[in-house]
Amino acid sequence: MSSPSSSAPGVPQATFRFRCIGCGDLRESASQNFRCPQCKDLLEIIYPQGKESSFDPTKLKSTWRNRRLSSTPIDQSGVWRFRDLLPALASEGQAITLREGNTPLYELPQCARITGVPRLLGKHQGLNPTGSFKDAGMTVAATFARLAGFRWVACASTGNTSASMAAYAARGGLRSLVLVPDGKISWSKLSQALDYGAVTCQLRTDFDGCLRLLQELVLRAPVYQLNSINPFRLEGQKTLALELLEQLDWQPPDHIIVPGGNLGNSSAIGKALVEMRDLGLISRLPKLSIIQAEGANALVRTLREAAGKCLISVQAETRATAVRIGNPASWKKAVHVLEATGGACEQVSELEIAQAKAEIGAEGIGCEPASAVTLAGLKKLVKLGLVKREESVVLILTGNLLKDPDFTMEFHRGDLFKGTPDETASAGLNPLRRPPRVLDATLDAVIRTLEQSEKS
Ligand code: F0G
Repeated sequence: MSSPSSSAPGVPQATFRFRCIGCGDLRESASQNFRCPQCKDLLEIIYPQGKESSFDPTKLKSTWRNRRLSSTPIDQSGVWRFRDLLPALASEGQAITLREGNTPLYELPQCARITGVPRLLGKHQGLNPTGSFKDAGMTVAATFARLAGFRWVACASTGNTSASMAAYAARGGLRSLVLVPDGKISWSKLSQALDYGAVTCQLRTDFDGCLRLLQELVLRAPVYQLNSINPFRLEGQKTLALELLEQLDWQPPDHIIVPGGNLGNSSAIGKALVEMRDLGLISRLPKLSIIQAEGANALVRTLREAAGKCLISVQAETRATAVRIGNPASWKKAVHVLEATGGACEQVSELEIAQAKAEIGAEGIGCEPASAVTLAGLKKLVKLGLVKREESVVLILTGNLLKDPDFTMEFHRGDLFKGTPDETASAGLNPLRRPPRVLDATLDAVIRTLEQSEKS
């Protein structure tokens, strides 16, 4: 089997280049590990001919709005609708799309009251086709994998990337290989990969071990890697921010808050914000803040203990398994984003995550634990004075509530913190718990329950 290059035949390559984020080296194609051959840093995609400079921001905005009325698959995609700021395709039919994006922006009035900010919004990326924000990046990266002639795509994952990759590979007629940590991802995510036909390997290691192995694998086998190291993923994920600003009539909020795991999403959103500012689509940059779980706080420690100069890895442990990552690949891109936007990086405890998740659920919205770090983090940023009480805030809710039903059930049954050092303190969360009740099947029993609930 020959090993195809990662540049895409049939695609007008002049429209983009790969640039090393370390030494700035510019190339037309990338090697399979998406690292700079000289300094080994990560690559990003840029449009050196000033693809954007010829654009009139007003015209662009109306083109994107008008595409919403079209019935072609590429226009119905909330990612490809913004294709003017993505690597170019030779034809519209090349895109592998599940009509991703187009996710709602919800008011969160109860959470706003709890945190003390006047206006709080949640951009629910969990309402993408496979239930997480990964679909926005995957549609672009899977498309370019197929264009580059690969038959196999692969990823290491805490669950959502693998679910998304498997779906897009299946839609695009590609085979997919999933590497996940054994016993450390939720069953609902794993079941998605199985149903979408991936070859799924549960490795006896953590996410970081899976990713390390994948990096070696892609150098030995003709397998295209679809982790967020792949810069096409980040180009697709940029559109989350474009869509958000469009939903806000291009008036930037004061803050956007995003969970941080492998740090691809924060890097992509930051890149989009800077590009939008440079293109004249928005007049100022919102602050982009990144929140991590205390047990998976590599970026927090990197900033506090090494001033963002070198990565401090950690042995990750958190029930928010999506962000159970100790050695984030895109840490340097995330540091650049924090510097560019003036955002903060904070960490939140397991109790704070569980509480915030229940509070988002009580709004009738719901999300997975990793997404709830954003609300927990906002409370902290307000307390620290980093978010002022009159400022507008958008939380990026990255995954669907149904992605981790075990966490939710254990929380409401009161088992989540059993046997952990947080067990006693977790009693403080009891008012948020809604355990199921097992009753005799009598009218009396149900009416009694109704009356008791009315009083509580
Ligand atoms: N939220 C959810 C629901 C996630 O699945 C992830 C990452 C993150 C937040 C963090 O985003 O890595 O871009 O900083 N999940 C990956 C996966 C790593 O394999 O599904 P990030």
